[in-house]
Amino acid sequence: MSDYIKLPIFDKTGYVVLDSYDQSQDPQEWLDIEYVDWKSSGDTRFAPLASAYGDLECDGFWNHDPAKTDKDGMWVPKNVELAPKLVERAKEAGANIGRCRVIELQPNTYGEAIYNLHRDDNNRLNPEGTGWIVRAFFNLTDDPDSVMILREDKDDPATETRVPLGVGTQAVIDTQRLWHAVWHPGDKPRYCLITSYTSGPELDEYLTAKNAVDFVESMPMTDEEIAAGEAVAQGKRDAREAALRARGEDPRFGDGSLKVMEEEMSEA
Ligand SMILES: [Fe+2]
Repeated sequence: MSDYIKLPIFDKTGYVVLDSYDQSQDPQEWLDIEYVDWKSSGDTRFAPLASAYGDLECDGFWNHDPAKTDKDGMWVPKNVELAPKLVERAKEAGANIGRCRVIELQPNTYGEAIYNLHRDDNNRLNPEGTGWIVRAFFNLTDDPDSVMILREDKDDPATETRVPLGVGTQAVIDTQRLWHAVWHPGDKPRYCLITSYTSGPELDEYLTAKNAVDFVESMPMTDEEIAAGEAVAQGKRDAREAALRARGEDPRFGDGSLKVMEEEMSEA
């Protein structure tokens, strides 16, 4: 049993959706900031607002020297100057901030998103007894046909929730518990502000103030559509496994589970 400070509102589903944010008066700062091609799969780019030590890079805090957990992010001066409103929104929660960045996601299919399902490693190096790290996703573009796919069990579509991502959608997710990825069928990139927050009284107060709910109705899909997506994902898994074997790499972890892509390559 891990012994972290967690917020009870996440107990049941692992996610909450807050009041939508009205950003109609806000400048589109996400178009001005600087993105880095980091571990790019071609589908995603990131623009850091807060990084491990304030540099314009997006690596996990645990990969730095000295390594640290996903807390006490340091603001990246250049992007902070270009995106004051996004920084203000991230800070509004009042909770400790770790990684804070904008993601740019190119359009994809449901099957590709299922293939991209992954869990984050937010709490690596996080000392027990302290606040569990969760992540906020503030949708910046209006993507009413796109969804955040969440699954309690990666291989069980019955555990899936599809949170619609209209403009101003704000969700906070225990991404180390839930498998997640975004299905974005649009014809333009989707932009989203992702912030790592430490669970504690500040975040609790913020979620309450924003009328957080721990359940939303999924965007409807037919069983056939879901099955077709599963087939696409399985085909991609098989191809990846074969490619790894061809390179002489073991495609499985010690426990027999198939290795998935690096978290950030498939980030939601
Ligand atoms: Fe993620």
